[in-house]
Amino acid sequence: MKKWYIANFKMSKEVEGEQSIVSYAEKFIPLVEDVEDNIIICTPFIHLSEAVCQFLDSEVMVGAENCAQWEAGAYTGEVSATMLDKAGVKAVILGHSERRNYFGENNEIVNKKVKLALKNGLIPVVCLSFESEEEFTNTLKDQLDEVLTDIDSGENILIAFEPTFAIGTGKALGKEEVKEFTAKIKEKLKEKGFDLPVLYGGSVKPDNAKDFVDFAGADGLLVGGASLDPEKFAAICKCTQA
Ligand code: PGA
Repeated sequence: MKKWYIANFKMSKEVEGEQSIVSYAEKFIPLVEDVEDNIIICTPFIHLSEAVCQFLDSEVMVGAENCAQWEAGAYTGEVSATMLDKAGVKAVILGHSERRNYFGENNEIVNKKVKLALKNGLIPVVCLSFESEEEFTNTLKDQLDEVLTDIDSGENILIAFEPTFAIGTGKALGKEEVKEFTAKIKEKLKEKGFDLPVLYGGSVKPDNAKDFVDFAGADGLLVGGASLDPEKFAAICKCTQA
């Protein structure tokens, strides 16, 4: 099965100007020409159109970092899943722990967004968030039940698990832990009748990526900081080729 490598640029200084997307694409595209796995670059809303143009002739897909929980209407400052689809966007990160912690998103809201993303043909990258192993064990079933409420098991959805203590800290989970958590998520999904790719995120770097995919069995990686450097992200996308 093809792996999934997803860049999450967030609101980083490195991507403040549109030109940064142009030069990123120029460097990144030739580096991943021979990669057969799926690559998605998720940018801030303001750069999506430029990113779609830059990656148009490549296999690289463009994703958003969020979308509205409503279909359309008077929601100042929001961007709908339909707008993303019409802009040529293929995927959207939903329920990232930063959205949950700073913007009060909960599983119910994430579920609404997942449904709208699917309705508009976008691939939802649904993030599961937890602060400790104990919280992971205690909340996993509820998180999955809630974000996947009334969603058909045949839908094209990616599940990404990201311990908050590993995000942006350089303290990635160990490969044994990633293996254990990936297996537990897959088991719970199976109990619900779902067979979805499970991705790991949290301080992924070129030197630990291979362990998470090859050894731990993750179906892909969600990458923040290291994805801002096209060479590093390309190395991560090629981690299983070495
Ligand atoms: P990080 O971020 O790779 O910088 O830890 C991952 C994420 O938040 O998606």
